[in-house]
Amino acid sequence: MNSEIAPAHRVSKKKRGSNDINTFHSLFVLFSHFMFSMYYHRKRTSEFHEKGDIRMCGIIGYVGEKVAMPVLLDGLKRLEYRGYDSAGIAVVEDGCMVTFRRTGKIAGLEALCQENPTLSRWGIGHTRWATHGVPSEKKAHPHLDCRQRIAVVHNGIIENYRQLRKELEDIGHVFLSETDSEVVAHLLEGGGAPLQRIQKTVIKLQGSYALCILFQEEPDTLYGVRMFNPLVLGVGENENFLASDIPAFLDKTRKVVFLDDGDITRITPNSWEIVDFYGKQKTQATVVQIPWDPLTAEKGGYKHFMLKEIHEQPQALEDTLLGRWDLVNGRVRFDELEGFALGTVERIVIIACGTACHAGMIGKYMIEQLARVPVEVDYASEFRYRDPLIDEKTLVLCISQSGETADTLAAARLARERQAMVLSICNGMGTTLTRISDRTLYTRAGVEIGVASTKAFSCQLAVLFLLSLYLAQQRTTIGNQLLSTHIQSLLALPRQMNDLLKNSATIHELARQYYLYHDFLYLGRGVCYPLALEGALKLKEVSYLHAEGLSAGEMKHGPIALIEPDVISVVLLGKGIAGAKTLGNIEEIKARKGKVIVVSHPDHWGEIPLVEQVITITDTNKYLVPLLMIIPLQLFAYYVALEKGSDVDQPRNLAKSVTVE
Ligand code: M6R
Repeated sequence: MNSEIAPAHRVSKKKRGSNDINTFHSLFVLFSHFMFSMYYHRKRTSEFHEKGDIRMCGIIGYVGEKVAMPVLLDGLKRLEYRGYDSAGIAVVEDGCMVTFRRTGKIAGLEALCQENPTLSRWGIGHTRWATHGVPSEKKAHPHLDCRQRIAVVHNGIIENYRQLRKELEDIGHVFLSETDSEVVAHLLEGGGAPLQRIQKTVIKLQGSYALCILFQEEPDTLYGVRMFNPLVLGVGENENFLASDIPAFLDKTRKVVFLDDGDITRITPNSWEIVDFYGKQKTQATVVQIPWDPLTAEKGGYKHFMLKEIHEQPQALEDTLLGRWDLVNGRVRFDELEGFALGTVERIVIIACGTACHAGMIGKYMIEQLARVPVEVDYASEFRYRDPLIDEKTLVLCISQSGETADTLAAARLARERQAMVLSICNGMGTTLTRISDRTLYTRAGVEIGVASTKAFSCQLAVLFLLSLYLAQQRTTIGNQLLSTHIQSLLALPRQMNDLLKNSATIHELARQYYLYHDFLYLGRGVCYPLALEGALKLKEVSYLHAEGLSAGEMKHGPIALIEPDVISVVLLGKGIAGAKTLGNIEEIKARKGKVIVVSHPDHWGEIPLVEQVITITDTNKYLVPLLMIIPLQLFAYYVALEKGSDVDQPRNLAKSVTVE
């Protein structure tokens, strides 16, 4: 089959008048394409979201003197943290394309490959994590062209895939999946050398992509393309690699070339070259020696997963917001909730455990104030045994990172038995909670490995805020103007979080000053009260220090008796009246010679009484304050634990997922 579609921006060399004009024209076209793609990337339209195939995935490619299959499987295992709902590999054996694909973890694919070993020395692999939609073997990569001679693995989003697919189908291409990625394999069909076909293809693609491509007709050769999605080239001895992340091959080579957006690379066992989308050789590509040991690399150079995950929050938040808002019409959209009878809901009961429950407690403020629906929050372990009063007019909202927490599952099952509507906010794809629930709103935090939950918390808060706005717009308890302002505040958060993360060194210094103390009180009002609980939980989990979260207003009813010079109070000053009232607590603590660290919103407080330290966050609306304040609190817990030398990622007595009661 021949792909007859003319490339949208093809530049005919024969028609060019002079080299200068050619170069200028090429640059102009490349620039236009770049700007266009940038625009689309930034815009991230909800069109793609409807298809429900937004992913975090891992890519590996190998060409060299070893048998490819074990190398690919090993690379995929090292990338499994990026995705684990399905995986696949493609190799060329005796001149024929062979693919293996399996849903579930890499172990399933490995078993399949062991039953069907091949001796091929070049191939590509992919592990996929769909944050949306049901995983299936059809959706698993690699995807093939009509004649099954070209295999493609892809990370990212082809935003104009619908239009491209229609054009391809109109000229006879047959698609086997609903994915956007498959269009790339079909676009690559046709005449010309593989590199030229890649160039013709990429200029038609809008969106973000990292691609690894294998052509059956060109032995011992692989191609990689990078556009707004990570792809690195590993340079070995008689072997070369492509991967979405360095850990995939770091035990085999530490020499890496970081590809740039707009690069196409061609690798063979003994050579690699990089060209741009118009075939111009890249001359400044440099090979970098990576100093990390393989384990550190999986942590992206961070010492611990917890620190890595704290730093991943801006990206996780962006992913979670993707396609769920429409600024032009000032609306929040949740396609997952279409046809779900939320209009009949009279009461919401939020159930969760640990950090997820703290997110739920903050969610109560958001939902009640914005959507004017009464909300109750309960620990799942309490809810399941308290014979709760719920019925078909109750929406039970279950929040869980893992989707496998035993108490939360039991509570969700009980809610169903009593005819309540069950909605979950969950990070784990296809997990038990999502199967029990009527509907699920996924957080797209990516795999969270550190036992202390960090990025899942901020993503849960983001979804809760969106849900509050969604309910508010349904119940017309919010005007369009305020709705857009709130959406804008939400969209500003990733950048604001990044700014706070740049301040890590100050928090580390603070931790050095306080890690030898034994008692910490975290105080807050309004949304800062559950945040105080979360700040204290983070510290106790990883540093084993005594830390208590308290409602600031409750201090005088008892806890103030604890104050003495060796007790550290971390006071969270939120916005408005809640923040103003908490100022009084600082005076009371100082009068009793307690030490005070303040985390403050930049409101007009006037004088903050003399305290040990003030950390200021950037301005945001009162509901979103916790999403920014949590950053210094998480960092403080992390650095205190680091100074104390505790096992940050696997603290004593704790498990990442509590699957037993
Ligand atoms: O997976 P889940 O969100 O359901 O887990 C709930 C709690 O077990 C979890 O948040 C736990 O409290 C964390 N270790 C907190 O950092």
